[in-house]
Amino acid sequence: MKGQLVDTYGRVHKDLRISITDRCNFRCSYCMPEDGLEWSPREDLLTFEEIERIAGLLVDRFGVESIRITGGEPTVRANLADLINRLAKLRVDLSMTTNGATLSLAANRLKEAGLKRINVSLDSLRRERFAQLTRRDNLNQVLEGITTATDVGFDPVKVNMVVMKGINDDEVLDFVEFGRTNGVIVRFIEFMPLDADEAWDERKVMPLSEILEVISKAHGLIPVERDNSPAARWKYEDGAGEIGVIATVSDAFCDSCDRIRLTADGKFRNCLFALKDYDLRELLRDGADDDQISNLFINGVKDKWEGHKIGKSVFIRPSKSMSQIGG
Ligand code: GTP
Ligand code: 5AD
Ligand code: SF4
Repeated sequence: MKGQLVDTYGRVHKDLRISITDRCNFRCSYCMPEDGLEWSPREDLLTFEEIERIAGLLVDRFGVESIRITGGEPTVRANLADLINRLAKLRVDLSMTTNGATLSLAANRLKEAGLKRINVSLDSLRRERFAQLTRRDNLNQVLEGITTATDVGFDPVKVNMVVMKGINDDEVLDFVEFGRTNGVIVRFIEFMPLDADEAWDERKVMPLSEILEVISKAHGLIPVERDNSPAARWKYEDGAGEIGVIATVSDAFCDSCDRIRLTADGKFRNCLFALKDYDLRELLRDGADDDQISNLFINGVKDKWEGHKIGKSVFIRPSKSMSQIGG
């Protein structure tokens, strides 16, 4: 069996995101309650062997081209470099999204294991605000982590800032300067209705148009042709790098979505906002062969909807938070 994962809207799926843990060493207020969520027991998590088998199958049979490791926080999983090593053999665009807190220790090992790109989540450059948002006083470690990631040669390093009105929207230009000075690509992300406390409210979203208005008062921007990333991109006129805006709410990119996901506990999801998932772990542990597993992916992608419909009356928010789904 060989083919492509195509849905009924004609979208071909080549981008796989694998969450490897729902745990995190931070407790971002929009992501988790202060005392954390109930973590999945260890035996519920897919093993590295299981992940390797699934990823291999998706690459060989369905032409998956990129794999991103996420969490929770992926670096809290023991022996992460071993998993990177296994996935690097698949010769895909292999990347990871992390909160950066342990990168100053781990970046070199991960690079050597074959990781190609790193994105770091960072929502404030002010120590107190950072501590309030993440419930951890770790801003310095994260900044060191970003520096180490660029020093060991990750290129590009991207920084993801979720912009929330009344919380950190006054830092947009600080992040612009941070990106320009440190040679990293900053991406401004519209706040999405996936927060653990259900505190999301459309008024807290700073839309792409307003983000651009603020930045273009300080710097000339030239639009860059979009790749298959969710970010719309601009270059600075003076050549000092680029920025991205991920406008999930005001300008959804569902039309060109090519993503599929695995959660840490082995569920297949065809959309970040999907209300239904498919139990891949059960199938694997029942001894399914590659054709049976392939059928789960084919049918799961066939079922995919047109888009998330945030802001419309039909939108239903998933009961899981970002850390449980995998960012
Ligand atoms: P690149 O390949 O570097 O562009 O990575 P990425 O932007 O795909 O991955 P990253 O993990 O850095 O995600 C950045 C942000 O994009 C996340 O914070 C999410 O807010 C958003 N995002 C990621 N995946 C999806 C998705 O499938 N749908 C939507 N709507 N947003 C997503
Ligand atoms: N809206 C937008 N982005 C979010 N993230 C987590 N929760 C949300 C949300 N509700 C981001 C993190 C990280 C990525 C994995 O997802 O900040 O950059
Ligand atoms: Fe951890 Fe990321 Fe959730 Fe923050 S947003 S608590 S860093 S998983």
